[in-house]
Amino acid sequence: MKRNLYVKLNNEYIKKNKPSIVLGTWSWGTGVAGGDQIFGNHLGEKELRLVFEEAMKNGLNLWDSAVVYGMGASETMLSIFTREYPRNEVLVSTKFTLQIANEKAENPVAEDIPMYYFGFSAQIKSVIDRFYAINGRIKGAPKKTAFLMAYANSAYKDAEAMRVHYATLAGYLGWRDMGSVIAPGVWTAGSIRNTTYGDEAYQLGKSL
Ligand SMILES: Cc1cc2nc3c(=O)[nH]c(=O)nc-3n(C[C@H](O)[C@H](O)[C@H](O)COP(=O)(O)O)c2cc1C
Repeated sequence: MKRNLYVKLNNEYIKKNKPSIVLGTWSWGTGVAGGDQIFGNHLGEKELRLVFEEAMKNGLNLWDSAVVYGMGASETMLSIFTREYPRNEVLVSTKFTLQIANEKAENPVAEDIPMYYFGFSAQIKSVIDRFYAINGRIKGAPKKTAFLMAYANSAYKDAEAMRVHYATLAGYLGWRDMGSVIAPGVWTAGSIRNTTYGDEAYQLGKSL
């Protein structure tokens, strides 16, 4: 096994050393839609520890899981093993299936959005667009929502389009707006550290 499959948690490193093999973990653990029900396996910590350690020894450190794999069983198992390794030596990818979200729950939805050309970034917008698949269920659900946005310029009016977009969206969905943190003037990496926006976001989060 070639050592260069080994990937560090570092964007530059990953760009240069794309992993060739991802190890899937659906058959790990048991439970609803878990390894026992889907694959007929009953793999627990004892058996899987050997698999995990052998793979890591051979440079296979990219693990793929999902909430629906045993409704948390696979992710939990993965967390037991990964915490025994330095954080930058393990890569984990996981997935959340919108259909299992409890749309009746009051759990808050915080939208944390960078400004790209005066609007929501496409990455965040693509998540919002996926609401469409479950629109009938989430519209009118008793949810709380909060809005956090960051942008480089300092003019307040530059944030107007995004503020209106957020308010219109929250109004349409019928979700209760719990507040906003709007952070102008944060351009270079780390520049938010010299501001109070982090604390404001923390307080807003706590208030939910
Ligand atoms: C594609 C792109 C477009 C941007 N457009 C704007 C803009 O219209 N106005 C602005 O003030 N900042 C703009 N920025 C800067 C970001 O909003 C700002 O630096 C933000 O804090 C970046 O967050 P991020 O690094 O997490 O993406 C843009 C950045 C990118 C990458």
